[in-house]
Amino acid sequence: MKTRITELLGIEYPIICGGMFQVGRAELAAAVSEAGGLGIITSKTQGTSEKLREEIRKVKALTKKPFAVNLNLFPSQTATPNEDFIQVMIEEDVRIVETSGRSPKALMPLLKENGFTVLHKVVGAKYAMTAERLGVDAVIVVGNETGGHPGMSDVGTMVALPRVIDSVRIPVIAGGGFADGRGLVSALAFGAEGVLMGTRFMATKEAPIHDNVKQWMLSADETETVIVQKNLGSPSRVALNEVSQEVERLEKEGATIEQLLPLITGQRAKHVYFEGDLDGGIWSCGQSVGLVKEILSAEELIQQIVSEAEQSLAFIRKSVEHRESVK
Ligand SMILES: Cc1cc2nc3c(=O)[nH]c(=O)nc-3n(C[C@H](O)[C@H](O)[C@H](O)COP(=O)(O)O)c2cc1C
Repeated sequence: MKTRITELLGIEYPIICGGMFQVGRAELAAAVSEAGGLGIITSKTQGTSEKLREEIRKVKALTKKPFAVNLNLFPSQTATPNEDFIQVMIEEDVRIVETSGRSPKALMPLLKENGFTVLHKVVGAKYAMTAERLGVDAVIVVGNETGGHPGMSDVGTMVALPRVIDSVRIPVIAGGGFADGRGLVSALAFGAEGVLMGTRFMATKEAPIHDNVKQWMLSADETETVIVQKNLGSPSRVALNEVSQEVERLEKEGATIEQLLPLITGQRAKHVYFEGDLDGGIWSCGQSVGLVKEILSAEELIQQIVSEAEQSLAFIRKSVEHRESVK
């Protein structure tokens, strides 16, 4: 399981829990890191640098292993500047950052001067090449199956991943649709050096969200998500519910951002995550929800993925040997 990603991040298994707004809090991030993967908390969830500092300290109290902070680069008029979040990370000695949403260009000098390892999330080869030129250490590629933000072009992981791998020399982490050991083996077979999962980690014991959400994830299949906000140029794959269906309907009618905002605001997702009202708002969820069969702890999940991956590899070896013996 050693890859350039495990070496770069100082982790045991090439398995990362992607940053998740509201969901990726200290308890989940620490559990993933403690289990040998890389956990990530998000600055956007915390909102201010002092709250981020508190959350970082919570993770540190739970694990001594490496973890990261996700910085959302999507422009927002009210948010704390990312430079302030970075300053807190420097002071708290967290030196791995996952960037997403926009080009990390403006922040790269500050990050590199301060010795950060930068993992940048992209949706395709052209963005990966730009990120490599800017000096990021690794790219995460997410295809259309992903929970959260896929690209505008609807390209699935199956094509986006090898396209990115063929386009850059830095290590590539595969995301979007991964949930088990077969997925990990396939990502490695493509030439990726790790997997990043969000949706699958939501359905773990440590994910700090209402049990109604986890139970829904157990019952949902892969068709029960939908992409909204494409009209706004910011597509988002979310769980199918009353609100996302209403947004979909309004978008087909050409609704404006002002009309959509009351439905799509991230504040409403809190009703879902913390009160268990499944129709409380739109909330990110990927197609891999169809692969969620049980609620495990982060450690059980990572161990299961590793042992499934070993079984898959043994199976591949056996079938190759069999084919060679009958030639
Ligand atoms: C509930 C949820 C919230 C997310 N929030 C963020 C976020 O704030 N920033 C980000 O870069 N990605 C976010 N993502 C995307 C994940 O980090 C990850 O890239 C994605 O979930 C991988 O695809 P998968 O869901 O198929 O595993 C979110 C995903 C989910 C499911």
